[in-house]
Amino acid sequence: MRYLSDAIQRTFGAEQTYFVRSHAKINLTLDVLGRRSDGYHELITIMQTVDLNDTICLTAAEDTSVRMICTRSELSNDDNLGAQAAQAIRQRLSLTQGLDIELHKRIPVAAGLGGGSSNAAAVLLALRQWWQLPLSMTDLQTIAAALGSDVPFFLTGGLALCEGRGERITPLAYRLPPSMRWIMLVKPAISVSTAVAFRNLTERDYSDGTASQSILAALANQLPLENLHNSLEHSVLEQYPQVAQAREDMLHAGVPYVRLSGSGPTLFSTFSNLSQAAQVQQQLHAQGYEVYLTHAVYPDVEKKVE
Ligand code: C5P
Repeated sequence: MRYLSDAIQRTFGAEQTYFVRSHAKINLTLDVLGRRSDGYHELITIMQTVDLNDTICLTAAEDTSVRMICTRSELSNDDNLGAQAAQAIRQRLSLTQGLDIELHKRIPVAAGLGGGSSNAAAVLLALRQWWQLPLSMTDLQTIAAALGSDVPFFLTGGLALCEGRGERITPLAYRLPPSMRWIMLVKPAISVSTAVAFRNLTERDYSDGTASQSILAALANQLPLENLHNSLEHSVLEQYPQVAQAREDMLHAGVPYVRLSGSGPTLFSTFSNLSQAAQVQQQLHAQGYEVYLTHAVYPDVEKKVE
């Protein structure tokens, strides 16, 4: 691997830092089919990356360590998935080059928006590109899946069907309908552990995947997406009164519908026009909610094409 270290040194000569953006996601649908023998749950979920993003700055370190420095101090440690992603790549290729990772956090943490997973995928992609590493997309997918179920999705982003425990990705070439041009995210002031949300599921929460299948058909036929479903929502609303209250407040403020993203607590709704969205946003802000108005983003194309 000596040649690789030399190549990395040459790359550093050209550029000492590397900036990358790391987007959040929402789950348009999330069908939990059942519990597997390995403890994970079998899923069919349709995910979409949104414009809300973190910024990551990678800087070559003089020594051999990987350091994570985050604007949220509780995330400035080795457990951060972004740091773990860098370690996984270094281990895989026996690299000793050190790295400082600065993470400007804007995506709410433990919120069902995939922030940590997105950071991990962004570091994997950035290092491969920056260090010109001999890693195929399949290699990256394997490393990503070992880091977390949602990480492989973020290697491609955009709109995708995700199956298995979430790591089997089929990118979709479809676009969201005009009624979903603006996506509103409302983050109640609590955190939900994904593991706990899955653990709280009972038989009655499981579905057969038809919700995701019908959304796939609607996307393919450019029809409005009706009856979005999230198998985790019922139990999260039951367990966390703040989430149920936020849902009520959103409906009262005039959103067309409310759905939970992933394991929550973030709830989302969608709008075709900005003025209606802004009005609802203002009302929810006034009630003390953390609200983000964002939109779908697609790989390499940051502008929405309809
Ligand atoms: O894969 P990841 O580490 O992100 O998952 C966090 C936790 O969420 C797992 O430990 C598991 O408890 C739960 N999970 C699950 N089924 C999935 C994905 C996650 O039960 N498909």
